[in-house]
Amino acid sequence: MRLTDAERAMLDGERGDACSRAMDLLVRYGEALGAECLIETRNVAGAFNASTPSVRHMAEDGFDRVFSELNLDSDDVVEIPHMAVPTCQLITGIDTENYALQGVDPALAEMQVAGERFFGRRGINMMCTCTPYQVGNVPVRGEHLAWMESSAVIYANSVLGARTNVEGKESAGAAGLTGRIPYWGLHLDENRFADRLIEVEIDVDDMADWGLLGYFVGHAVEDAKPAISGLGHTPTLWKLKHFGAAAASSGGVELFHMPGITPEAETLDHAFGGSARPQPIRYGAKERIATWESLQSAQDRKVDFIMLGCPHNSIEQMAEVAQRLDGKRIHPDVALWVHTPRAIAEVARRSGYTEIIEAAGGVVMSDTCPAISRRLPEGVRVIATDSAKQAHYLPAISSRQGWFGSLAQCVDAAVTGTWTGGPT
Ligand code: F3S
Repeated sequence: MRLTDAERAMLDGERGDACSRAMDLLVRYGEALGAECLIETRNVAGAFNASTPSVRHMAEDGFDRVFSELNLDSDDVVEIPHMAVPTCQLITGIDTENYALQGVDPALAEMQVAGERFFGRRGINMMCTCTPYQVGNVPVRGEHLAWMESSAVIYANSVLGARTNVEGKESAGAAGLTGRIPYWGLHLDENRFADRLIEVEIDVDDMADWGLLGYFVGHAVEDAKPAISGLGHTPTLWKLKHFGAAAASSGGVELFHMPGITPEAETLDHAFGGSARPQPIRYGAKERIATWESLQSAQDRKVDFIMLGCPHNSIEQMAEVAQRLDGKRIHPDVALWVHTPRAIAEVARRSGYTEIIEAAGGVVMSDTCPAISRRLPEGVRVIATDSAKQAHYLPAISSRQGWFGSLAQCVDAAVTGTWTGGPT
């Protein structure tokens, strides 16, 4: 791999041991990928924390060890300096305020808080959400990023026009210390054109419908780059967030093109870079119903857990949840968790939304989600969610039954304890 003088100096240890190991890791990783050089980044989003029981023994030796082992793949413990470039923490496994509801040992929650302080002092902004673009980390078009988290990556590439592959803990950690990431994949112009065409033949407007379309697209194109045509409505941030998260779950989509929305795709021709368009894959009423059915893994209509906020809710979504719950009471056998970034939770609290949700018997959670933490309210058997991504993962990883539906259907199930949702 070609290195600049500054990169060679980092590799040779001019900026210390941790930086040298980070550069070595990036060179090995880049060479394995066939990258010819590194690209500068000033925007890293990764995972740096002590939120799982398996990390606890490492954290007992100090957080330098946690970073060395998890983010630099180093058995030797090296002292971790301040990050070279702005870096943020994605979602964690623990809500440091609601950890008892998650069934988290207080000592582990304390360790999480101590880890946040340690990493925060080293320049890692504790956003603690899978949606950093909702709370201040909003990259600009063409900006090179080193981001983990598939739902954030697809949003950054497709809605914001920034450039990132799906990084891992190690490459994101190394990027934070060096301000570099291998120059390959979606960083390169030639790899960003669409190579599949989805023709939407039905109205897609409701948030559940955006999730269904995304889930269909991911399944249909796997890890290709679809262009979507035939859309009749301009989606909001949260609809695009749901669409992308779903497409990145059923498939490995990291970039989609919606003409007029994706910055690089003013038109379909722009999306395909002037190349001939492939035969379209049609999405009509039949495909919508089949996708809906594929997301249901439950038979029992008696639900006991409602999960909202995957990806983490925007403030508009928090307002809608509160509005739908206002004056209602959640069924005594049901738990309702609503997930949102902590920064948005504060706005929700000040706006009175949290009070309404709590008065109904729900809980506003931040920092985590059940699929990441693998923690559910005790005794849960049947889950319902308004997120195609959560419906894809949570029942499978927790061995529970799961329903997918609209927010209205989920709120109805929370109040009645019974799932009556259907594909409307
Ligand atoms: Fe975020 Fe967890 Fe969903 S990380 S995208 S809320 S599975």
